[in-house]
Amino acid sequence: MDRVTFKVNGIEYSVGSEVNTDVTLLEYLRRRLRLPGTKYKCLEAGCGACIVTAVRGQDTPPTAVNSCMVLVTSCQGWDITTVEGTGGRLAGYSKVQTTLAEHNGTQCGYCTPGWVMAMHSLLQSGKKLTMLEIEQSFGSNICRCTGYRTILEAFKTFAVDAPASKRIMDIEDLHICKRKGDGCKKTNCDDYDWCMVLKEEVNKASTVHIKLEDGRDWYRVYDLNEVFNILVSKGQDSYMLVAGNTAKVEI
Ligand code: FES
Ligand code: FES
Repeated sequence: MDRVTFKVNGIEYSVGSEVNTDVTLLEYLRRRLRLPGTKYKCLEAGCGACIVTAVRGQDTPPTAVNSCMVLVTSCQGWDITTVEGTGGRLAGYSKVQTTLAEHNGTQCGYCTPGWVMAMHSLLQSGKKLTMLEIEQSFGSNICRCTGYRTILEAFKTFAVDAPASKRIMDIEDLHICKRKGDGCKKTNCDDYDWCMVLKEEVNKASTVHIKLEDGRDWYRVYDLNEVFNILVSKGQDSYMLVAGNTAKVEI
């Protein structure tokens, strides 16, 4: 036996002495099989553009694989699915693809196959994932256009605890939970977790008021009414509103 055999989108292929030692699965898919749906950028497992789904052996669940990191000669017995194999214009788009499009989760589209295949892999794995677990599964996918929110909103609809409403909430209606104990009690979080939750799901924190060393008052507020209450209580004192702190306005 002097060939490595594997399947791509259900078709069997093999490689042998016609390939060099450094030919990656990514290169093989794009250059030899002419399947350019799988994209690449970093070529070092950092961006996720090259993700495909692979079943790497019997009794092994489908997993997302960074095809830029895998030599094609390592794929003996693998069953590989690329984005072309999940759906397309002629065959009809998959649920993952249509959900992403319906949520405006793609702009230039370069990263999209990687996100689609990462989500496809999760669904194929058969795990029942929560919204937080889905969000945390995408640590290695990069998108330079969308700001991620629309992608995550789309993919969270596949979660077991997804809200009934598919509507993307206004950003003003959301609270960003960054740390343990800050309202969201859905699951255990650690200090590296963050996620967006509805304001009504958050135990509203009370205004923080500190008398700073320079004699000034520092307030941390949670809604606009608190701002007005403070302004009324402070009368004519000058104040500064601090948001992103990229510019300062003293009044
Ligand atoms: S090209 Fe493979 S992870 Fe970026
Ligand atoms: S849509 Fe352009 S990089 Fe993600």
